[in-house]
Amino acid sequence: MEMTTDRLGRPLRDLRISVTDRCNFRCLYCMPKEIFGRDYRFLRRDQLLSFEEIERLARLFVEHGVEKIRLTGGEPLLRRDVEGLIARLALIPGLDLTLTTNGSLLPAKAKALRDAGLTRITVSLDSLDDTVFRAMNDVDFPVERVLAGIEAAAAAGLAPVKVNMVVRRGMNDESIVPMARFFRESGHILRFIEYMDVGSSNGWRLDDVVPADEVVALIDAELPLEAVEPNYPGEVATRWRYRDGGGEIGVIASVTRPFCGGCTRARLSAEGSLFTCLFAAHGHDLRGPLREGASDEEISAAIGGVWGRRADRYSEIRSAATASRPKVEMSYIGG
Ligand SMILES: C[S@@+](CC[C@H](N)C(=O)[O-])C[C@H]1O[C@@H](n2cnc3c(N)ncnc32)[C@H](O)[C@@H]1O
Ligand code: SF4
Repeated sequence: MEMTTDRLGRPLRDLRISVTDRCNFRCLYCMPKEIFGRDYRFLRRDQLLSFEEIERLARLFVEHGVEKIRLTGGEPLLRRDVEGLIARLALIPGLDLTLTTNGSLLPAKAKALRDAGLTRITVSLDSLDDTVFRAMNDVDFPVERVLAGIEAAAAAGLAPVKVNMVVRRGMNDESIVPMARFFRESGHILRFIEYMDVGSSNGWRLDDVVPADEVVALIDAELPLEAVEPNYPGEVATRWRYRDGGGEIGVIASVTRPFCGGCTRARLSAEGSLFTCLFAAHGHDLRGPLREGASDEEISAAIGGVWGRRADRYSEIRSAATASRPKVEMSYIGG
């Protein structure tokens, strides 16, 4: 296999595929209602890549070196028959397949996902405090039902479940230690994510970010921690474990310790646009060539060309000025 690298020598190893731009939540930091309200025009069904198109692209990406695919969105479990897509992708040899969800539909879907061939899953949960969580998802969705989703996933064999918490100062920072306590010894792996300036709609300010070091210090003061070696070089989460053996947590310091130098990730939007950075303003259309009858060689050359020209390192050059640049929304590109 030929190794495809970009202008900074970074290989292409991970692909995030957004399967829908729609969501049943309106998290304040991701899909605020002022923008994603009744009049918002989501993609039409015929604009979405079909499962055949996604599978074809996935196989071509694997030929370029992709080893891991994460399905995301929007809310991926809202895509009709997403398990049918998983069944197709699970057949690609040597591929690590996973999915990120808000958990709301997991009680109904976890078993079907597992049966289709999914082996791991990440569930987002920003607080255990029901008032805080209902306010953050802005659709009054209760904590209890996400917890039921996490349990359903574990019971179906999608363990260990990773639980992602985005921390925003003044909103859910008081939930950090209670979340750590709750998920300790549960067998699930809790990961804290710094709030990022994705998209142009969430009104991000650096003051809203709780640095990962602060998260670790807060937890360590009550539940002593020690550092753990990364699972593999370039792992985005920094790992910590409880000194008393109560399991581990991760912190993802995308703002305070950017990892652009080791970034091997591409993103495919639900309508087939390829993005080489979460903070890009524009993607490269792959659906057009797919639907115009391009051959595998032609599409593969387009993928290689886009990656080969890549020189993105947004998070390393982030500043107050770059935060207000136009950027694509995360629910569209796939978080
Ligand atoms: C865009 S969501 C898509 C998948 C699914 N709907 C979910 O919430 O897990 C993927 C992840 O991105 C995170 N996210 C969204 N906006 C973010 C932001 N501004 N900063 C950091 N993480 C963010 C979410 O919390 C979630 O864990
Ligand atoms: S973070 Fe996930 S659940 Fe929340 S609005 Fe964005 S896509 Fe939906």
